[in-house]
Amino acid sequence: MRSISLASVLASVAGLATASPTHTDPEPPTKRSTLPTVTVSGNAFWQGDTRFYIRGVDYQPGGSSEAADPLADPKVCKRDITQFKALGINTIRVYITDNAKDHDICMNALADAGIYAILDANNPKYSISRLNPDPSYNEVYLQSVFATIDAFAKYPNTLAFFSGNEVVNDGANSTLSARYVKATTRDMRQYIGNRGYRKIPVGYSAADVASNRRQLADYMNCGTDDERSDFFAFNDYSWCDPSNFIQSGWVDKVKNFTDYGIPIFLSEYGCNTGGKRDFGEFAALMSENMTSVYSGGLMFEYAMGPNAYGIVTIGDKQSDTVQQQSDFARFAEALAQHPAPSGKGGAKSSTHAMACPTKDANWLVDSTLLPAIPQGAKALMKSGAGTGPGLDGPGSQNAGGTSTGDAKPGSGSATASPSSTKNAAGKPNARSVDKQPFAVAGLVILLTLSGTLLL
Ligand SMILES: *[C@@H]1O[C@H](CO)[C@@H](O)[C@H](O)[C@H]1NC(C)=O
Ligand SMILES: *[C@@H]1O[C@H](CO)[C@@H](O)[C@H](O)[C@H]1NC(C)=O
Ligand SMILES: *[C@@H]1O[C@H](CO)[C@@H](O)[C@H](O)[C@H]1NC(C)=O
Repeated sequence: MRSISLASVLASVAGLATASPTHTDPEPPTKRSTLPTVTVSGNAFWQGDTRFYIRGVDYQPGGSSEAADPLADPKVCKRDITQFKALGINTIRVYITDNAKDHDICMNALADAGIYAILDANNPKYSISRLNPDPSYNEVYLQSVFATIDAFAKYPNTLAFFSGNEVVNDGANSTLSARYVKATTRDMRQYIGNRGYRKIPVGYSAADVASNRRQLADYMNCGTDDERSDFFAFNDYSWCDPSNFIQSGWVDKVKNFTDYGIPIFLSEYGCNTGGKRDFGEFAALMSENMTSVYSGGLMFEYAMGPNAYGIVTIGDKQSDTVQQQSDFARFAEALAQHPAPSGKGGAKSSTHAMACPTKDANWLVDSTLLPAIPQGAKALMKSGAGTGPGLDGPGSQNAGGTSTGDAKPGSGSATASPSSTKNAAGKPNARSVDKQPFAVAGLVILLTLSGTLLL
């Protein structure tokens, strides 16, 4: 939905066999302020042993044409958090953030309101180029991506990072950018592990494109563990009122992704071609029809823009007041009427890889190999990314410092051990909790139970 072409890439790997399922257990939450951290296990998100569903909105109050960070502007975020509380959401997605700015006030205010943030790690100047992906996957780009991780990893309510947004679109040759998005996902996951952060999930947000959705999803969850995403998300505008679970085709989107092996959710939904929306999609997302496969979604979108999806209008960016549109009350009502289901909702307790897609007319990737991380970016795994370029830097797409050849599958695994001082919840980048340090996990459980863990 955004007009900028952020870069993401799908890597294409052909013919790797599907790995056998790995049993996983939810990680104990780390409680650092008001909110427990959200973790991935099996094909779902969890707060401790409680299943977590994304019940959120897409948040870009400046509109998609303006590169501005609403989480760096307390006046803006606090104005909107009031509305988020009135809606009753638990998650926002923020498309553009400035990794040179401070986010303490907004992230803490969101946490106080019980709200998590999913953050895009790209911005218009620092992204993978859909048209010319190879040079855009470079060390200058990855330094910006890693600096965004540094900016948000410290907040317990950072739910996840998107490694790319709609980089692949409906042009068949845009699928060639998938390798670079997948390499970026791998590098982000390794950076999170090697820097000793908690295991914040990383995945891709796909455009609403039927011709390559399946291949892209399989591609992002195929290959060795270091190459696989923590989750997959896609945008979907097929439920246009009046509609229902069958007529919209969502019934097939559940069938098709049954046994996908990792969590999946809708990063944008909310077709508005029918005029007023009644958000029957949300009822479906919270129902048994979908919960065994999907973990909720993000309604597009909070603020009114040129495409008229917004549920509030904001005079100008700095305006103190917002005006609720009629869809606001209908969405709030849907949230109130359909609470998160109790129990596990049919979630699976194990995770597994898919087979990599093979090349065809819609999917042009013909290798399972990913580009190796550029040398200059590899060095940041040890030294840290340092100061981010923010949104006003010179940009990265032709900055040089590119990859020199393909990576050996498995070479993107995190090698560092979690740091006990920096972050008690830091875990090695492993998929099984069996490998977690026992004492730390036990301590977290104890302190979480008594509700006193303050780090
Ligand atoms: C895809 O095709 C378009 C039009 O021919 C071209 O401009 C673009 O560079 C191509 N992209 C890739 C990744 O090859
Ligand atoms: C489901 O999968 C089938 C077979 O791969 C495909 O033809 C169909 O388009 C998919 N439907 C949806 C809604 O994704
Ligand atoms: C669940 O699916 C059934 C059809 O199998 C449909 O009649 C019902 O409306 C769906 N429920 C929701 C909440 O969409």
